[in-house]
Amino acid sequence: MTEKNKSQKPKHIGFIMDGNGRWAKRRGMPRKFGHSEGAKALKEIVNYCKKIEIPYVTLYVFSTENWKRPDDEVEAIMDLLRKYLNDAYSRIGSGVRFVFLGDKGRFAPDIQQIMYKLEEESKVEYSLTLLLAINYGGRDDLLFSFKNIARKISFGELKAENITESIISENLYTAGIPDVDFIIRTSGEQRLSNFLIWQGAYAELYFTDTYWPDFSPKELDKALLDFSNRKRKYGGIS
Ligand code: IPE
Ligand code: IPE
Ligand code: MG
Repeated sequence: MTEKNKSQKPKHIGFIMDGNGRWAKRRGMPRKFGHSEGAKALKEIVNYCKKIEIPYVTLYVFSTENWKRPDDEVEAIMDLLRKYLNDAYSRIGSGVRFVFLGDKGRFAPDIQQIMYKLEEESKVEYSLTLLLAINYGGRDDLLFSFKNIARKISFGELKAENITESIISENLYTAGIPDVDFIIRTSGEQRLSNFLIWQGAYAELYFTDTYWPDFSPKELDKALLDFSNRKRKYGGIS
């Protein structure tokens, strides 16, 4: 990228990693093969984001709606997740802090445990905060915030008339994390599918037909070049 293009760089990229199933189908392979290849692409993209100094990256790994899928597919995804998290745990200290978005309560106890441990122990000398949206839904995120706020009101810690937009933000799963400013979705679908609906209110959106397992650092560069040329207006005039 040229100097000029570097000038506007996202601080927080959200990836809707879609198309694993179709990628596999096209090759006459089972869907779960698409997910394992997708996991490889994920690692490469995360390393690249760290290299080019993007401070926050959110990966949409598994939605609150994805539990509807056949049991064997959900199991295959959970196995990949287990492997990925254990591997990440063995690499704590390599500059990535982990944060999980979504209700951890629905996962197997060993997965929950590794999530808590990663969150706690990876807060050391990091340059990239990696947010994994797993059992995540934007509506569930809002529900989580509203319930937290209602609890504070019932304890007398907060008055209803004092609720502000920032209080809603501070009670989401993403508390303390800057809003996503660039959302990239692979596979040709052009929708958010319940991803960061509050935090993405002013995000720039980028859609590519590439299926997630084929999404490469080169494609990310192309998306970043596109981002660098966007005019962000936030309702004002330019
Ligand atoms: C994205 O790929 C991964 C998850 C949603 C877990 P898909 O599995 O949705 O792939 P397609 O959309 O069926 O091709
Ligand atoms: C969105 O993809 C969820 C993830 C990428 C984890 P889906 O494949 O589940 O979304 P829809 O069904 O096409 O909206
Ligand atoms: Mg899909």
